[in-house]
Amino acid sequence: QKPMYILGIESSCDDTSASVTCNSKILSNVIANQEIHSKYGGVVPELASRAHQQNIVPVVQQAIAQANITKEELSAIAFTKGPGLMGSLLVGTSFAKSLALGLQIPLIAVNHMQAHILAHFIQEEDNKIPPFPFLCLTISGGHTQIVKVANYFEMEILGETIDDAVGEAFDKSAKILGLPYPGGPLIDKYAKLGNPKAFTFTKPKVGDLDFSFSGLKTAILYFVQKQQRINPNFIKEKLNDICASIQFTIVEILMDKLKNAVKKTGIKHIAIAGGVSANSEIRNRLQLAEKHFNWTTYIPKFEYTTDNAAMIAITGYLKYLDGNYSDVSVTAKARLKV
Ligand code: KG4
Ligand code: ZN
Repeated sequence: QKPMYILGIESSCDDTSASVTCNSKILSNVIANQEIHSKYGGVVPELASRAHQQNIVPVVQQAIAQANITKEELSAIAFTKGPGLMGSLLVGTSFAKSLALGLQIPLIAVNHMQAHILAHFIQEEDNKIPPFPFLCLTISGGHTQIVKVANYFEMEILGETIDDAVGEAFDKSAKILGLPYPGGPLIDKYAKLGNPKAFTFTKPKVGDLDFSFSGLKTAILYFVQKQQRINPNFIKEKLNDICASIQFTIVEILMDKLKNAVKKTGIKHIAIAGGVSANSEIRNRLQLAEKHFNWTTYIPKFEYTTDNAAMIAITGYLKYLDGNYSDVSVTAKARLKV
């Protein structure tokens, strides 16, 4: 097979990333994180777009250099069209358009949520690739969905959050505990040292395969405030146990819904995607489900869970094979369904 080099560009939120693929293999995946947001306790959209503007050229140059090719060898340019923060998306979109025009190669618009899922088709030495149809639990800072994936671009949302995303539940809980943004990875870290049964939080009652996390966040807030009034050192003394209990509750909610989805569809090939799929507890629980429920699970490598351009490039490659190109008049879209 002739090598096809695709450049992927991701700028939907607070990470500027560029990646070059050769067919379905990743040659480079460069990510510039934006430290600036941590002191604000969340992503500040205006600051994010300015940082993208500053990072995009060096990040793309690095991705091409690390792939050991010249930009003239690229076959196409894929970029994140949405969903995401408008100002951030515009930086990647405009840059991708200009470069594609300059190089006179096809431009490919990619849906960020589809790309999280299609990261499973990156070819590595040791990875399992899911067969169609499979279910994907897509969990990130902006989304929480159970998606039935019938084919590369045939996806159906079976359930999704009616309020906060699961990543938000992690990050907001962390904020209540005084941890910096993004708090998800920190909750994961402290939870490893704590007792997941130390405190119990009620699971939300929400229909069918949908999710709700805003009630849980409020319950955690009231619980912590009350305990702090009794003992002002509560958070400090019990941080590990609190984190473990919060994480346990969130993962229970996710697993319950996944079990329902398997029951409903009869599909036992289960993948996870999105930033929260880096969480060690959800990874453990899925591995256990292989034994207990006879599921086959697909867990992405860490570097392909949180936002990255490798997933945009692989999706671009799959679209390239279909000749699914975009016009240069294509626009970014803050809201976009899978
Ligand atoms: O997919 P992603 O990088 O960006 C979005 O598209 O939203 O996901 C970021 C989210 C954040 O909420 C972050 O706290 C969460 O993923 N996250 C984690 C872990 N690593 C990242 N949440 C729990 N445990 C982790 N290990
Ligand atoms: Zn994402």
